[in-house]
This record gives sequence, structure tokens and C-alpha cells, in this order.
Amino acid sequence: MAASAQEVPGGVIVRPAREADLEAMSRLTARSYHELDVRTRQRDWPDPEMRSPGRSNHWIRRTHHTLHTDPEGCWVAEAEGEIVGCAVSRVRELMWILASFAVAPGLQGQGIGEQLLAAALHHGRGCLRGMLAASADPGAVRRYRLAGFSLHPQMFLTGVVNRDALPLVERVREGSAGDIDLMNSLDRRTRGAAHLSDHDVLLEQFRLIVIDQPGGQGYAYVDETGAPALVAASTRRTAADLVWEALASTRPGSTVSVSHVTAANEWAVDVGMAARLSLHQSGYLCLRGMKPPTPYLHHGSLL
Ligand SMILES: CC(C)(COP(=O)(O)OP(=O)(O)OC[C@H]1O[C@@H](n2cnc3c(N)ncnc32)[C@H](O)[C@@H]1OP(=O)(O)O)[C@@H](O)C(=O)NCCC(=O)NCCS
Repeated sequence: MAASAQEVPGGVIVRPAREADLEAMSRLTARSYHELDVRTRQRDWPDPEMRSPGRSNHWIRRTHHTLHTDPEGCWVAEAEGEIVGCAVSRVRELMWILASFAVAPGLQGQGIGEQLLAAALHHGRGCLRGMLAASADPGAVRRYRLAGFSLHPQMFLTGVVNRDALPLVERVREGSAGDIDLMNSLDRRTRGAAHLSDHDVLLEQFRLIVIDQPGGQGYAYVDETGAPALVAASTRRTAADLVWEALASTRPGSTVSVSHVTAANEWAVDVGMAARLSLHQSGYLCLRGMKPPTPYLHHGSLL
């Protein structure tokens, strides 16, 4: 498929995304994901919240970056001049990554998502591997399985860290752009493809911590709540130390989550349980041409 507009039934046009669409894409994805969270949330989970203005800015910055690196991977569905769907994807080395995928709540189940996903997948046609973090939406998961992805259930641990359980972690240092080569090499070793320029965006949005010792190398991006947003390491022990360092940075008494844990990463379940967080399950890591990365906790959209 060339990067041009396609008409789908119902007068909806699927066309390449433009910079001017970013605000509308951000609003649409926030609305669709929130509606999904309300629809699929378990009763004992906190009430879902709409994406905050700060997180929306991060979403726009990440998507702006992807629009520049991968213009042919970013698509919108438009009806009567309004953005009603989008799919944002990128190629890093030989891996295709789906970052965002949403259709307006009132228009779902009519084939718009299928067209958007086909356009985004075409961008990755030369790739050996594919990776995306799926929501719990049965319609989304149906689309991914039909596109040949294996579905690996994701766990998450959440709660208030028991600070008496925090071990002394000595080898960790603050990271910087000078660590990008090290991080790209850990990315290739764990997930089979480097993040390349996505590290620039991650460095802007998170605190970076690094372990670089003869016995183990690894890095973690940590958000403002102390949650590890992305972890890659050469050994499970190193990965566990990085998550402990992240958990140590939580404010006492505040809730933190360790997300995107696959069964291949039981070391993270063990850290979370030792910190007295509680274990839940939500969504899937969807993979094509690869096994679940380990020791690794993926980022939701930069993976
Ligand atoms: C996922 C999403 C983008 C798909 O867009 P869409 O326009 O609804 O997709 P389509 O209509 O092309 O395909 C959905 C498929 O799931 C099916 N489906 C819908 N609800 C379903 C359910 N509860 N159980 C099983 N199948 C379901 C539809 O019948 C359709 O399959 P078919 O084409 O074989 O009949 C959209 O539903 C959405 O925005 N969901 C909320 C946000 C989200 O979860 N995004 C994905 C993040 S990873």
C-alpha cells in the first residue's frame, strides 16, 4: 500500500497522519483508552482516570517523534473532517512496533481498526520481528491474533512499598545520554532491536538509572512515581537491583505499579512480592518472530 488515502465503508477515509492531527489524535486515544478502562476495569481496582495534561504532552511528544522518524507508519481515520481513529507504528532495526491504536468509541466494530492496522503493518513489511502491548479490549486482541501475533499475558504489581523490605543497592548510578550505546546494546541483546533515537525521548521524559559492572549491566527509566517504565539488563539480578532502586525512590505511603511483567520475567514478580505489592493481570505483550524479552520490562508504547 502506498502512503495515500484509502476509503473504507461509511465515508471514513484512512490517510497518513500529519503534524496538525497530533492534538486530535491525543484526545481521541485518551478518550478511547479511558472508555476501555471503564468497560474492562475490575471492581477492586481504582477508578480509571482520563490521561492527565502532563501525560498528554508526553504522548504528543512521543508521537511527534514517531511521525518524523516513521511518517509511513502513522495513519488516521477521518470522517467529515474529524479524526475518528489512528494507528501509530515505527520500525527500529528489523522490528515493527505498534505504539498507539484507537477508534472513537461510537464507531468501533465496523472495520475502521482493521484498515488502520493494515496500513501500519504495511510499514513493517520488511521486518523480522513485531512487538506491541495490547490492552484488554477483546476487539483489539482479535485484530492482533488475526495479524499473526502471539499473545503473552501481562501481569502488574501495585501497592505501597514496604520500606523495611528495601535492600541496600550499591552498584546503581544516574544515567545520561552518554549511556545510549550501552543501552542500545542491551536492547539488542534482550529484545532484538535497539531503541535508537527513542532513547532521546525516553531521556527527556524519565529519570535514567544504570548499572555497568563486570558482573552485570542494565538500565531502567523511572517515572515520577518511582515506577520502572522500561528495564533491560544482562542478568536477572541486575534487573532486580534496578527495580529495587526505582521502588526506593517512591514517596513513603504512595502507591506505585510495576507494569508489563510477562511470565518470562518472574524476577520482577519476586521483587514486587518482596516489596509487598499485589499481583494482577491486564492485557498482553503481542509478539511476532520472537520470544518474550528477558530480563526486560517493556515500555507501553516505545516497548
Ligand atoms: C482496538 C480498536 C482500535 C479496533 O478498532 P475497530 O474499528 O473496533 O476494529 P475492527 O472493527 O476493524 O475490528 C474489531 C474486531 O473485533 C471484534 N470484536 C469487537 N468486540 C468484540 C468482543 N467483545 N469480543 C470479541 N470480538 C469483538 C469485531 O467484530 C471485529 O472483528 P471482525 O472484523 O472479525 O468482525 C478499537 O476497538 C478501540 O479503540 N478500542 C479501545 C482502545 C484500545 O484498546 N486500543 C488498542 C490498544 S492496544
